[in-house]
Amino acid sequence: MTLGETRPASALTELPPLMAAVTRRDYGGADQVAVENLPIPRPGPKEISIQVEAAGLDRAVLHLLHGLPSLMRLAFGIRRPRQPILGGEVVGTVVEVGAEVHGLAVGQRVAGEAQGTFAEFALARPQSVAAVPPSVSTIAAATVGVSGVTAWGALREQGQVRAGERVLILGASGGVGSFAVQLAALAGAHVTAVCSLAKAAFVSELGADVVADYATTALSDFDEPFDVVIDIAGNRPLREVRSALSREGRLVIVGGERGGRLLGGQQRNLGAVVLNPFTSQTLTSLFSQTTTERLTKVLALMATGELRAPIDHTAPFEAAADALRAMESGHLRGKVVLIPKAAG
Ligand SMILES: NC(=O)c1ccc[n+]([C@@H]2O[C@H](COP(=O)([O-])OP(=O)(O)OC[C@H]3O[C@@H](n4cnc5c(N)ncnc54)[C@H](OP(=O)(O)O)[C@@H]3O)[C@@H](O)[C@H]2O)c1
Repeated sequence: MTLGETRPASALTELPPLMAAVTRRDYGGADQVAVENLPIPRPGPKEISIQVEAAGLDRAVLHLLHGLPSLMRLAFGIRRPRQPILGGEVVGTVVEVGAEVHGLAVGQRVAGEAQGTFAEFALARPQSVAAVPPSVSTIAAATVGVSGVTAWGALREQGQVRAGERVLILGASGGVGSFAVQLAALAGAHVTAVCSLAKAAFVSELGADVVADYATTALSDFDEPFDVVIDIAGNRPLREVRSALSREGRLVIVGGERGGRLLGGQQRNLGAVVLNPFTSQTLTSLFSQTTTERLTKVLALMATGELRAPIDHTAPFEAAADALRAMESGHLRGKVVLIPKAAG
């Protein structure tokens, strides 16, 4: 760009009218997932448009595919999904900036969270993305928007994990768990991680001091109580999880599958919040929100090499249905990252 020349607000004129997108038109299984050609979305005044370089797969994509738990349909479409394009995590280049957006420019590389990221272009809110440091790879940056930020909120903000504390992580081998193990180890905690036996070596490499197989270990098998329990998976009853906590221990409920079609286990979150004022333990439920500040902190740890993206594999958009099936059947170690053909 020469002196006096203004930077264009949009690079859209140079772009094709249609884009490839991974869609489903109804709630259901992975068999209905297709790659369609759709018009490139244009940002509203408070949005940016991102040319997608890669998009991480997180568990919410599976929930939105099935429309379960049913309660979520109130927000995403009662009979069928309002947004046909799947995907929630994104990294890419800003190609258009809404009139009311400040602080972001065309050409900037950003990562974060948006709806419909399994597409060549996706719209995002500026407060849900952050600049990607040059030393962070595209594939790594694609995993922070939901999984990385959720683990950060659970460990560093709500769990307040400190050096020397005993931390138990339930669901340690998945997208959130594999970041959570690393963040707990980085904080100097003693980390006990629970996952399936097949993934024990993977979780151990992430920094867990003890790895236990959930098929053969009950929480009552641990000799000493934990200062912090991060409950990401397993959907164990609240009373059982609390029994593994010290008197003043802190519980953060992040998730847990198989909790019923209507609520999907949210009863446990509600139970924790209701019980919290009546116990010496701190019982909390996480509702993760992706913000520029949180993304920046997670990306900074990746830039220094202290945190690594736990990648199972990368795949083109055409393999999205297979990736969803692999997640559903519990075959993933960490994250899958999807790549549009043009960028791959
Ligand atoms: N609160 C929030 O804001 C928030 C944000 C993001 C995600 N979530 C929720 O967090 C949960 C995990 O998400 P994710 O993306 O990490 O999913 P994921 O990648 O599919 O990982 C799920 C993990 O759960 C493990 N698991 C299954 N059964 C278990 C058991 N009985 N005990 C311990 N671990 C068990 C699996 O281990 P194996 O594969 O080894 O069997 C797998 O590693 C989901 O329910 C998701 O909806 C909540």
